[in-house]
Amino acid sequence: MYCIDASSVMFLVRSHCYLIQKPEKGILEMAKEVSHGGENNTSIKSPPEPSPLRKAKFFQANMRILVTGGAGFIGSHLVDRLMENEKNEVIVVDNYFTGSKDNLKHWIGHPRFELIRHDVTEPLLVEVDQIYHLACPASPIFYKYNPVKTIKTNVIGTLNMLGLAKRVGARILLTSTSEVYGDPLVHPQDESYWGNVNPIGVRSCYDEGKRVAETLMFDYHRQHGIEIRIARIFNTYGPRMNIDDGRVVNNFIAQAIRDEPLTVQLPGTQTRSFCYVSDMVDGLIRLMEGENTGPINIGNPGEFTMTELAETVKEMINPKVEVITVENTPDDPRQRKPDITKAKELLGWEPKIKLRDGIPLMEDDFRKRLEIRRKK
Ligand SMILES: NC(=O)c1ccc[n+]([C@@H]2O[C@H](COP(=O)([O-])OP(=O)(O)OC[C@H]3O[C@@H](n4cnc5c(N)ncnc54)[C@H](O)[C@@H]3O)[C@@H](O)[C@H]2O)c1
Repeated sequence: MYCIDASSVMFLVRSHCYLIQKPEKGILEMAKEVSHGGENNTSIKSPPEPSPLRKAKFFQANMRILVTGGAGFIGSHLVDRLMENEKNEVIVVDNYFTGSKDNLKHWIGHPRFELIRHDVTEPLLVEVDQIYHLACPASPIFYKYNPVKTIKTNVIGTLNMLGLAKRVGARILLTSTSEVYGDPLVHPQDESYWGNVNPIGVRSCYDEGKRVAETLMFDYHRQHGIEIRIARIFNTYGPRMNIDDGRVVNNFIAQAIRDEPLTVQLPGTQTRSFCYVSDMVDGLIRLMEGENTGPINIGNPGEFTMTELAETVKEMINPKVEVITVENTPDDPRQRKPDITKAKELLGWEPKIKLRDGIPLMEDDFRKRLEIRRKK
């Protein structure tokens, strides 16, 4: 290395010669700033300016919102709520892997609604103000079906949506998951817990995929000033869930309606907390509209063992069915319960619908779709 003058440094690397302007701050100083990122990061840029198009009168009065995965369970309920506001235009992109046009058929043809068949692993350019990024299969049966595609959806899909947010200056919300806590060693789980995740297990495409997606969100926020929001969603249930996708509430309800035994995975003492979908949608909208990046847990802290859940479904829907035990799947977390202190304090949010009030609403929907009437 040869020094030319005080402000320039010349490096000789093999046969190449690079002339580099000496930075105003020392390299070490800059590295320190970066490594102290997180909460005290001084290098967060302000969000990019929206495009001139969005400064036009129409766009100031109206909000154009993209919902990826909007044909799915939570996404379609979110779309319903967003469409209630006449100032919102909603664009859904979905590849229909686990979602269905049926969930949105009541909006097709509406002047404020657009539905696009699109896979988020491919780039997308649309002029929007907000992006709710939900696209990703949520049920283990589906996300394990093609794990490479699942991780691509989480990583490349999120990169594409962040690229879009950067380009058009949109605020972006990621629906992350309680699975980022893995098989948790702290209980209940608050957002400061870093998790206990198997990086090479059969669920890792989902858990680790969402963890990388969260990392990307924060890196885009720190590096490019993108406005981000991260929701860590705990088990959610309600009408429009896929009937046979293996998630526990739908499983039990469908089995009870069909007069089949309720299959509890061993040991049956593992716990989950269940949030009704209208509460979830309310939490997501509050997070998007608020000033906090998150991550914020959104879920119902009411905790049930799988055996308790099966007994409740049996009692409410079909007292004649048996409850039996079956083998469990690898890496099934033993307990899950959100600490929602942050959601309460920062979003003024807490769930309103109790499990015993939500189950009959889901039963009605499943009976309609299965065409099985209640017995008299
Ligand atoms: N439901 C829950 O209990 C729960 C819990 C934690 C996190 N989440 C998260 O919430 C989001 C929605 O979950 P859900 O329960 O509605 O699941 P869902 O499977 O019903 O919906 C996901 C939607 O994304 C679409 N999709 C999947 N891959 C895609 C791709 N590559 N390109 C475009 N669209 C794609 C599907 O077709 C579907 O419409 C997911 O991100 C999930 O990880 C859900």
